[in-house]
Amino acid sequence: MMSRRADYAAATAALWSHRDPAEFTGLVRYATLAANSHNAQAWRFRQTSEGVAILPDMARALPVADSDHHHLYASLGCAAENLMLAAGAAGRAPAMEFATDGDERIEIAFGQSGSRDSLFNAILERQCTRSDYNGHPVPRADLSALEVGARVSGCQVVPIEDRAKIEQVLELILAANTAQVSDPAFAAELRSWLRFNARAAIETGDGLYSGCSGNPSLPTFLGRIMFDALFKPDAENDRYARQVRSSSGLAVIVSERDDPAHWVQAGRSYQRFALQATALGIRHAHLNQPVEVPSFRRELQSLLGLGSRRPDLVLRFGYAQPMPRSLRRPVRSVIAT
Ligand SMILES: Cc1cc2nc3c(=O)[nH]c(=O)nc-3n(C[C@H](O)[C@H](O)[C@H](O)COP(=O)(O)O)c2cc1C
Repeated sequence: MMSRRADYAAATAALWSHRDPAEFTGLVRYATLAANSHNAQAWRFRQTSEGVAILPDMARALPVADSDHHHLYASLGCAAENLMLAAGAAGRAPAMEFATDGDERIEIAFGQSGSRDSLFNAILERQCTRSDYNGHPVPRADLSALEVGARVSGCQVVPIEDRAKIEQVLELILAANTAQVSDPAFAAELRSWLRFNARAAIETGDGLYSGCSGNPSLPTFLGRIMFDALFKPDAENDRYARQVRSSSGLAVIVSERDDPAHWVQAGRSYQRFALQATALGIRHAHLNQPVEVPSFRRELQSLLGLGSRRPDLVLRFGYAQPMPRSLRRPVRSVIAT
């Protein structure tokens, strides 16, 4: 009998493999391989006469960590970006609009004669890498390529390379993390999305598998006990400080306005950043604590001199070995009729 670990490796190898982007199900699979908050996959996809509509799945929202649904809409933007890159690879020219008549949704219409963007090739390789990095600096030309690659209208990437500034942002990350970790509702919500072993991850096809973060595999009941015992501000803060200090730099995705249409754009920009980084051999992970807690978000806004612009996502980047991949639910589970 194969071990659970081998089952997991087989499941991820099958998932992160090429599909035909000319087919609706192929497009949806590429879309679902996008980054998304807590890997909750709070999205549904509907085939329309013009193309595809992407709808929020509020049953999978995160009421504590993401009470305003910012991350949910950003995650829809990540999926939209992947879907449009896949449509381009199939020779279609996608046009996107955030529709607010009736239900809020993303509408993507396909025109003729699209072209393949080189970022499409990175979709199957991208991952969030939550390990320590090796501290090597990213060359200036690659930093510029990241900024250019992540450009979408209404958003900007603000890189932070100065070590003193990185320490100031780290201070906010740790303070916001302390607030979140000390909140029993936050801990309970996170725990419900943790998958403590490969079997649980494969069964649900969603959530945060311990192996992706370099944590040991445990039976679910024991994982929950260990989580309750060990999820404490000091231990978590030590880990985040080490991770930030081993990274080459930080980058903040910032948008001009603070509304769902711009949160979608921020998600698109981030997904492009992640794909461009992947293409350049650069790893990245999120440190969103200071944008998730409103009082710390305002502090970050003023520290970075953003005026009224919203800091959407805080990222670290650098170099490291890959970690195990994450899973997704079957395409049929996310198709809306
Ligand atoms: C809007 C958004 C917010 C996220 N926030 C965090 C975060 O705060 N911490 C973290 O470790 N990962 C965060 N992630 C990464 C997701 O957990 C990750 O994309 C998901 O688990 C799937 O894994 P993969 O991207 O490696 O495929 C975020 C992703 C998105 C799109």
